[in-house]
Amino acid sequence: TFILTIAGGGSTYTPGIVKSLLMRKDQFKLEELRMYDIDAERQNKVAVIVKEVVKEMDPSLKLVLTTDPEEAFKDADFVFAQMRVGKYKMRELDEKIPLKYDVVGQETCGPGGMAYGLRTIFPMIELIDFVEKYAKKTCWIVNYSNPASIVAEAIRRLRPNSRIMNICDMPVGVMRNMAAILGVAREELTVDYFGLNHFGWFTKVYVNGEDKLPVLREHARVHGLLTEDMSKVDVQHSDPSWIKTYKNIKYLVDMFPEYIPNPYMQYYLLSDHIVANTNKERTRANEVMEGREKRLFDAVDQYLATGEMNKDAFYVGVHGLFIVDVAISLAFDLRKRFLVIVENKGAIKNLPDDAMVEIPAYITSNGPEPVRVGEIPTFYKGLIEQQLAAEKLLVDAALENSYEKALMAFTMNKTVKSAFQAKQILDDLIEANKEYWPEL
Ligand code: G6P
Ligand code: MN
Repeated sequence: TFILTIAGGGSTYTPGIVKSLLMRKDQFKLEELRMYDIDAERQNKVAVIVKEVVKEMDPSLKLVLTTDPEEAFKDADFVFAQMRVGKYKMRELDEKIPLKYDVVGQETCGPGGMAYGLRTIFPMIELIDFVEKYAKKTCWIVNYSNPASIVAEAIRRLRPNSRIMNICDMPVGVMRNMAAILGVAREELTVDYFGLNHFGWFTKVYVNGEDKLPVLREHARVHGLLTEDMSKVDVQHSDPSWIKTYKNIKYLVDMFPEYIPNPYMQYYLLSDHIVANTNKERTRANEVMEGREKRLFDAVDQYLATGEMNKDAFYVGVHGLFIVDVAISLAFDLRKRFLVIVENKGAIKNLPDDAMVEIPAYITSNGPEPVRVGEIPTFYKGLIEQQLAAEKLLVDAALENSYEKALMAFTMNKTVKSAFQAKQILDDLIEANKEYWPEL
């Protein structure tokens, strides 16, 4: 039995993760579940729902809420990290400030993602140090904290020996949609994939040994990565903006002859189209605050007032299931194959060894054993190298307190058209992030 801590307990995703954990309780038995957050008030609210989930699914489970790192991590076996530094308020600024200059406003891509990166690097290192100090020596951190590429690169440099698995649920979310399109279960898909986090391509999609990529491309060039009734496939990703995101993929599939891109590629490769079709006053952060976050907190209020719990107020889907699946594979040495973020070390032959890449790996109790991807074609290699350079420069900026490096990172990012534009956006973001960023 395990002690597991969710760092970022106040997240809207926490109830879904807890439910996913308890759905797997026969295989992955918890003796204690801890929620840790720096915002006690928010965490207490989310815990109202979590307590209900626990009461219903595993009443004997001990649940601890804390804002104290020692209490949170003492003897922990697993830590699930999902911090959002600055919360949705700062996400809103990450999205809206670049849009003022007609640049993509997105949580993890472009200037917004870099801003979020500068907020997250040091809190993430602090978290790793807490875990190192208090948890079991064998403890694994499974990390969803965004922007995952930048966070992973900073950890690689500053804490190279930490036991951390950096993951993202976007590929597995796409696989869920692909499975629905093909009419099979997600578990039946085995994929080949390469890239950086939120910057990659599916190159093979096997079902029973047969590559379904051509069939999926045919579907995707007309319909995108969608089936008719997405609400049956996934509630969360049937929000209008997610439908649009999956739909836009059709343009890229139609224009380029091979592979299926990660939906995030549209921010880099269709940035003019994206900006033209974005409401600059109301971005995804607003939708989330008025949607997922409000639904959850309304349900808490309603529960406290009436004792009735709205079970649809939180999201259970691939996001929660995936992190639990990765943890189970780590815990029991299952060697399951997942797409995760690892140091390249030759896996993609014609990219630098020290790039943090997203590729398939077999998850063992000693961590990931990445597959060999081999050489990738020039188009993808060029795009990835530019994005990688931007990410590395951004981490340099944080570690060297360098405005110049930050400006280079912003200029390098493909969503940004000129150095003037990069500088204006950077200066606005410095102002907005005064409380959070290292000094540049
Ligand atoms: C996917 C990505 C995450 C990202 C999330 C945003 O799950 O993999 O990295 O944070 O989408 O979703 P939201 O519904 O908050 O816009
Ligand atoms: Mn992600």
